[in-house]
Amino acid sequence: MLDLSGKNALITGIANNRSIAWGIAQQLHKAGANICVTYLPDEKGRFEKKVRDVVKPISPTIILPCDVQDELQIQETFNHISNNLGKLDILIHCLAFSDKEGLEGDYSNISREVFNQSLDISTFSLGNMVKYAKPIMNEGGSILTLTYVGGVKVIPNYNLMGIAKAGLEMSVRYLANELGPDNIRINAISAGPMRTLASSAVGGILDMINHVEKVAPLKRTVTQLEVGNTAAFLCSDLASGITGQIVYVDAGYTIMGM
Ligand SMILES: NC(=O)c1ccc[n+]([C@@H]2O[C@H](COP(=O)([O-])OP(=O)(O)OC[C@H]3O[C@@H](n4cnc5c(N)ncnc54)[C@H](O)[C@@H]3O)[C@@H](O)[C@H]2O)c1
Repeated sequence: MLDLSGKNALITGIANNRSIAWGIAQQLHKAGANICVTYLPDEKGRFEKKVRDVVKPISPTIILPCDVQDELQIQETFNHISNNLGKLDILIHCLAFSDKEGLEGDYSNISREVFNQSLDISTFSLGNMVKYAKPIMNEGGSILTLTYVGGVKVIPNYNLMGIAKAGLEMSVRYLANELGPDNIRINAISAGPMRTLASSAVGGILDMINHVEKVAPLKRTVTQLEVGNTAAFLCSDLASGITGQIVYVDAGYTIMGM
């Protein structure tokens, strides 16, 4: 029943084969979606090469550079999609960044510069991408972002990213209200902790994973492909009544009181 054939999906945030965005890309592809991806460009082109290698098995139709701090690159990404594919059905926002300073020690020591950069990339970018996506999205379209329970409860060291995720989750609700009349949905998946490039910057990430493996009802954490499966569902017509929600894919961890 889960069928995404004929749907154009733009997936941001693949850095390597551990990326949650890669898990999502694989499962959307499996469900029949036409996949386009963006990568964060760097001067030596290392990210581009890595991403092109990783995504080869699913042969994306379009691969573009898109640094969400670069307004022109965002515009060019959506112009390119519009000119080459016409319309977009699915947008996956699967990116975040904080300087190490924001992910360990005292929260009150975080500098304005580090705070602004992290919130710009991790929070503002969602609404800003929606601004460009909205005019080219088909009715019935679906947008998805990724969050973590550290945006709702205190998780040691998650510090600045917790603030970014709290803002991101509230953005999902405001955007759901904005997009609903056009029959475009937006949701977030709150994923359990996984080892990725981004999470390796969070102080004590391995302790977080070990703790979840002990405490969560399923006695493990989750995989990128499990997040991908839920993403495919949320982006499909099977989820046509779901918008503005934070869906937990965390092996049940957050239901526990101790
Ligand atoms: N790994 C976890 O435990 C976990 C848990 C819950 C939520 N998340 C969230 O999942 C999302 C994906 O992270 P991940 O864990 O797969 O790590 P990842 O490092 O694979 O992905 C993060 C991505 O953000 C991109 N990025 C950073 N700055 C950018 C910029 N300026 N412009 C464009 N892209 C930029 C990176 O290139 C990378 O592809 C993030 O929002 C993260 O907070 C991760």
